[in-house]
Amino acid sequence: MMPFESKNIIVTGGAGFIGSHIVDRLLAQKANVTVIDNMHTGQQKVVEGHRKNKNYKLARVDIFKEPALLIKEMKNIDFVFHAAANADIRNGIKNTRVDLEQNTIATCNVLEAMRLNDVKGICFTSSAAVYGEQKSIPTPEDTPKVQNSLYGASKLACEALIEAFSFYYGFRHYMYRFVSIVGERYPHGVVIDFVNKLKKDPKKLEILGNGRQKKSFLYINDCIKGIFTGIERSKNQNNVFNLGHDNVILIDKVADLVINGMGLEKVERYYTGGEVGWLGDQPMVLLSTERIKALGWKPEISIEDGIRRTVKFLLEK
Ligand SMILES: NC(=O)c1ccc[n+]([C@@H]2O[C@H](COP(=O)([O-])OP(=O)(O)OC[C@H]3O[C@@H](n4cnc5c(N)ncnc54)[C@H](O)[C@@H]3O)[C@@H](O)[C@H]2O)c1
Repeated sequence: MMPFESKNIIVTGGAGFIGSHIVDRLLAQKANVTVIDNMHTGQQKVVEGHRKNKNYKLARVDIFKEPALLIKEMKNIDFVFHAAANADIRNGIKNTRVDLEQNTIATCNVLEAMRLNDVKGICFTSSAAVYGEQKSIPTPEDTPKVQNSLYGASKLACEALIEAFSFYYGFRHYMYRFVSIVGERYPHGVVIDFVNKLKKDPKKLEILGNGRQKKSFLYINDCIKGIFTGIERSKNQNNVFNLGHDNVILIDKVADLVINGMGLEKVERYYTGGEVGWLGDQPMVLLSTERIKALGWKPEISIEDGIRRTVKFLLEK
């Protein structure tokens, strides 16, 4: 089923990592795609590739600062994928307004532009960070949430706004809480951190925390398949799904994969210490994905292969 063929679709953040893969999938379905992106972390090379498709348009709009332009772009749109955000979790502790502005208020602007133009469907890229300190592992969608980062809190606030707009105005919504996504066009996170540090000094590697943190990662193609599985197969008006792998990997093992992928040997590791890498990090992330699996989705690429492909991409780009 190709629900987006000939439909007019907005992808906010469509020049970024996850948004651009959503765009690939929509263009393959022959949708008319408008990407709304301020190019803050958007990837120019990816935009150049997409521009070759006649069904693609980039509107350089800032969804936080330019709500009037956003309202204009929303005219005649059938569905919105909202992936624009500040995706930098760690810096919220230094700049306490950025998550509120770029995530919560920006999402409210998207919802208001939808309301004014009678757009009724939205897919939102949320995060495992909304669970904060995860008590129940694997974590199911309906577990109690205890916030430990402004990023997570802002994403949860976005979800709440989407629910309220949906309740008032009859929107259909699909919200996905991702673990860390890896793969081609990967822009931020532990793998790039390790690659950059090792490029600078191939003899030593600083690891945040004690290296014993256990994390689930998901390969980008599995993530995109999960997103579209929910939209194509769920019969519910309002949907919240976890998306992650069934397994976890030690951060130390991620370091092994990066070191091997870069062809390095005898790298000395330095640990900053503690159970977590930074305030707001989790010692273990593993989400229960039973809900999306019930619709026929499962991850196909192992965490190890996903990380290997990411290292390869980073070295070749
Ligand atoms: N990458 C992950 O592992 C991961 C995990 C969980 C959730 N998410 C969520 O997925 C979404 C995409 O993340 P990503 O990793 O692709 O990040 P990214 O930084 O590659 O993409 C974000 C895009 O949004 C654009 N953008 C940011 N602020 C904007 C604004 N005010 N107006 C217009 N455009 C703006 C950026 O230029 C960029 O192209 C985000 O909502 C993020 O919170 C990502």
